[in-house]
Order: sequence, then C-alpha cells, then structure tokens
Amino acid sequence: RLLGTAGAAGAAGLVLGGAGGAAVHAAAAPDPGTALTTVGSTGVPFHGRHQAGILQPTQARGHLVAFDLAAGVGRKEAAALLRRWSEVAALLMAGRPAGGGDTGVALDAGPSSLTVTFGFGSSFFDRTGLGSRRPAELEPLPAFSSDRLDARRSNGDLWVQIGADDALVAFHALRAVQKEAGATARVRWQMNGFNRAPGATARPMTTRNLMGQIDGTGNPKPSEPDFDARIFVPADGGGPASWMAGGSYAVVRRIRMLLDDWEKLSLAKQEQVIGRRKADGAPLTGGTEATEMDLESIGPDGEPVIPADAHARISAPEQNGGAAMLRRPFSYHDGIGPDGEPDAGLLFVAWQADPLRGFVPVQRKLDRGDALSSFIRHEASGLFAVPGGPAKGEYVGQRLLE
Ligand code: HEM
Repeated sequence: RLLGTAGAAGAAGLVLGGAGGAAVHAAAAPDPGTALTTVGSTGVPFHGRHQAGILQPTQARGHLVAFDLAAGVGRKEAAALLRRWSEVAALLMAGRPAGGGDTGVALDAGPSSLTVTFGFGSSFFDRTGLGSRRPAELEPLPAFSSDRLDARRSNGDLWVQIGADDALVAFHALRAVQKEAGATARVRWQMNGFNRAPGATARPMTTRNLMGQIDGTGNPKPSEPDFDARIFVPADGGGPASWMAGGSYAVVRRIRMLLDDWEKLSLAKQEQVIGRRKADGAPLTGGTEATEMDLESIGPDGEPVIPADAHARISAPEQNGGAAMLRRPFSYHDGIGPDGEPDAGLLFVAWQADPLRGFVPVQRKLDRGDALSSFIRHEASGLFAVPGGPAKGEYVGQRLLE
C-alpha cells in the first residue's frame, strides 16, 4: 500500500486504508499556492537576543535529547557541530528542508512553530578544555531527599530541546539533529513529550497536565518589570561566563506521576493538594485563574483555606525570598507497565537566570513538605547553560567556542 501523500490526501478529505486495504489515490502534487492553516504556517525566528523555545508558548509536541561528545572530540569539533546544528535549525524553523540528505518527513508542512534550543551541560566544559569559562550557575544541582534519579537518563554534555505543533515536524527535526551529530556526539538519552494542540480549546488557555490541573498560571509574565532579571542572564558584565549574556539556565526533571494513587483522591482533596480549583485553576480563596492567592485567609475550621502544605503555596515566590522560574514543561506517556501503571508525568523544564534563585530553593522547600510529593517521583535530572540567541551569521554558542 502506498501511503506517500497522507498529508495532501488527508487535507483533501480522503480516507486512507479502510476495509479491503482500499483506496489510495495517486499523489496530487502539493499545490504551492495553497495556504497552510495557521498552525502550519506559524514560524519562529531562529536569530534574536534569546534562543527560541523559551518565551514561545509550549508546542503540542516536544523532544528532549542529550548528547555526549565522542572520545577524542575537543573544542574544534564541538564548535563545528554547533555550527552545523545552527544551520540546520535555522532552515527547519523557516519550514525549509535540512539540506541534501533531508528525510522528507516534514514535506508538505510549514514550520508549525518549530523551535530548536541548544544547551551545554557541566561536563561539556571539561571535555573541551573550557573549564575556566564554565559558569558558576552550572554547579551541579544538590541532591534532594525525594530524588529517585536514573544517572543514565540524566545530564549530558549537550542538550537539545525541540518543540513543534506538528508531530512529524518535531520528529523530523530530531532526526536532523541526530544525523548532524554524526561521529562527533552520540545520544545519551532522549524523551518525548506533548501538550494540548493549538485550536483544541475555544480560546487560548493555560494547558493542563496529566493530573488534570491547569498548570502554568503562576509563571512570571514578560510584562512584569523583573521578568528579564529572573529568567535571562544580564547583558555582558564581563567575567568568565560573559558568553552567556541573554542566555538562561534550564533545569530538566523527568517527574513521574503516580496516577493510580492520584486518581483515587476526591476532587476536594486533589484541590487541597495544589491550593487551586481543578476546573478553572482559581485559588481556593476564590476569584478566577488570574486572581492572586490569598495566603492569609483562614477558613471556618480555623485552618488556612490554602493549606500549609499546598503545592502552589510552598512554591510561590513570596514564600521563597522571590525565587521564581519560567516553567515550560511537556507531558509524557511512555506506555503502560506490567503493573498496569502508566509511565507518565511531566518533562519539567524550568528556565531561570540562576538556578540558585529559581529551582533550587523552591525544590528544597517542596522536598520538605509538599502535599504533591506523595503523588510524584523525580526520575531524571539535568542542568544546562543555554546561551543567548545567535545574531545573523552567528551560530549558537559561538561566543564560547570561537
Ligand atoms: C504551581 C503542578 C512540580 C514549581 C503549580 C500549579 C500546579 C503545579 C497545578 C498551580 C498552577 C500554576 O501556578 O501553574 C505541578 C506538578 C508537578 C510540579 C504536577 C510535578 C509533576 C514542580 C516543581 C517545581 C514547581 C518540581 C519547582 C521546583 C512551581 C511553581 C509554581 C507551581 C514555582 C507557581 C507558584 C505560584 O507562583 O503561585 N505546579 N508542579 N512545580 N509549581 Fe508546580
């Protein structure tokens, strides 16, 4: 059976497959004059002050992949790889093929909000003789008592985050990135994630996670005066890590959700665990999703309306000396285990100018008394320095590697 032009045939309303192995119509050549839907046609610029994939809304599909440099590879080869990766990312994000050897997987589709974001792990600096340029912010994350981390699925010399609103476009980018790594770097771990697709809701809404909660409400907003200082490394102030100007630090945690346990809780109990209503994300102290939590409010039973161990209370910046991060996660589901439990949860990706003023103090506190902690398990971890975006003609990381 020929399934070569599923995209075009699907768009024309044809049913593929069906009883008797049926009808696949001869490929109509894609009409270059036909407008794509907005989902397909939306493109994100590759060049800019920040790399793409931090400030853009989370896409419907995501791939996280970490690489280790091959034995004997040094700074020169690493620089050449970042140059190749940057060239390919710029092409794909513009909706163009990756070059001569393109696999064709994304043909017919537009860029679909593809972003490809590159970062360096702490070990990269030892491998390339760049130890003196390693930022202090890349100090390994401390151990937390609830960690159940798998070292083989943690860290890595290099990290790439891919997001797109079309699954084929995202997969295509992942293959292109892997192919360009060639003999320079090999995949250390790779994880697949997803989010709600644009257009699935009547109006743009904060997405839900696999526990069913509206997740992302409390994120810092670009309109807030301290947003840039919280999320991005300031303009070059000199020093060994001045190459990170405009960059950000990504904390990556694979967090398994113990869904069988979670789903046994009543709705009221689930809401107490978070401190917000499940239906609309409003704080338990009332209002709408946008209303601030009233952390002082006491209920008729004499207890705080937002419980002392509620996740949203413990993680709020005002409870952590202002510590804040931009959470931009993907959900994941890797099938159902022999015990019948889904291997599902959150590929938690948090962005901040300094993990010691973002993830670390908040996770320390969550680790000590978060009501959510009985229902989740941190299974893998990474911390990556994600340099600022490249200027035209530059590749990602050039200010470090040239
Ligand atoms: C808030 C879920 C892990 C930090 C929230 C909210 C939900 C949620 C539903 C309330 C809505 C919102 O503001 O987004 C989860 C789930 C997790 C998880 C299901 C694990 C599977 C973490 C981790 C951290 C974290 C590991 C950081 C160490 C925060 C922060 C807020 C928040 C900073 C916003 C608090 C505020 O400003 O009001 N989370 N979370 N979360 N979470 Fe989590």
